[in-house]
Amino acid sequence: MDTATWYRGFGELEARGQSAIYEEWALGVADDPTLIALIDELPLQKRQPNLIFACARLLGAPEADYQSLRGWLLQHWSEVVAEALARSTQTNEARRCASLLPALALIPGPLALLEVGASAGLCLFPDRYSYSYDGGTPIDPPAGPSSVQLECATTGGVPRPTEVPDVVWRAGIDLRPLAVGNADDMRWLETLVWPEQHERRARLRAAIRIAAADPPRVVRGDASELATLAAQAPHDATLVVITSAVLVYLPFAERMRLVDVVRALDARWISLEGLRGLPIVRAALPDDGGSEGRFVLALDETPLAFTGAQGQSLDWIATP
Ligand SMILES: C[S@@+](CC[C@H](N)C(=O)[O-])C[C@H]1O[C@@H](n2cnc3c(N)ncnc32)[C@H](O)[C@@H]1O
Repeated sequence: MDTATWYRGFGELEARGQSAIYEEWALGVADDPTLIALIDELPLQKRQPNLIFACARLLGAPEADYQSLRGWLLQHWSEVVAEALARSTQTNEARRCASLLPALALIPGPLALLEVGASAGLCLFPDRYSYSYDGGTPIDPPAGPSSVQLECATTGGVPRPTEVPDVVWRAGIDLRPLAVGNADDMRWLETLVWPEQHERRARLRAAIRIAAADPPRVVRGDASELATLAAQAPHDATLVVITSAVLVYLPFAERMRLVDVVRALDARWISLEGLRGLPIVRAALPDDGGSEGRFVLALDETPLAFTGAQGQSLDWIATP
């Protein structure tokens, strides 16, 4: 796919309805051969609209119309390139815990959580957030309602958890971990939230405060670290490997190696990935869930539900 088509698709299919600013920017870039030529000088994975726009905003680009962005980009392009080369898109969405929770509830606790691609580790705290499915009775941590309230709309008879899981150990692995105590890392995480997504930004800040009170251990590395870290989990807890919005970043061969490593562990595996994430999960689906943009929740490679990409919805498909 050429870069102009990529930006147009991003504008029309991803940004539209989510961020009017990103939609205008993406469509503006798509029709701008000068900008396309500059972006095409970057390595392929650094040309992403999400990365370029976040780097521009991080550096102070005005959140205004495309012509203002264009003028700013032409003036600051070398700085944008330096940021884009140094950073990557690693949005950490605590709301995905609303998708994970019903799968976690199917696993006997206490639980030891090990997330591959954990970013800042915000999805390692499903026991510290409050949940409400379809506006029903809130599910709170034992200490009381959380400052992070995760709402989720469901269909299909989701087996609703009645309590948060008992998590006794948590750790993550990431190619480039973001530290909840590092202001620059957190500013980047915040900038990855799109301009108009104020509620999401507020939720991110609240989740960061929760995580910062008990910073998660997220080690730098890839799936090759998995077995070493897994061996450190307490033996009297059920080890649960979590992969959430990460597999698509792994080249296919690496992804299949990860599958082999996880299968060899004495662990359960919850995956929350796009349709392209795990071929074996996709093959077991009744259909494509109506959209390429949705995620699939699976336990031990068996699909349980389609979900909204940010955990906002859960459409249960598994039979009891
Ligand atoms: C989109 S973020 C998702 C973060 C978190 N799992 C969530 O759902 O909110 C993907 C994360 O995976 C990490 N990542 C990408 N490839 C990886 C690999 N091969 N091994 C470990 N982490 C990886 C990225 O650095 C990034 O932090």
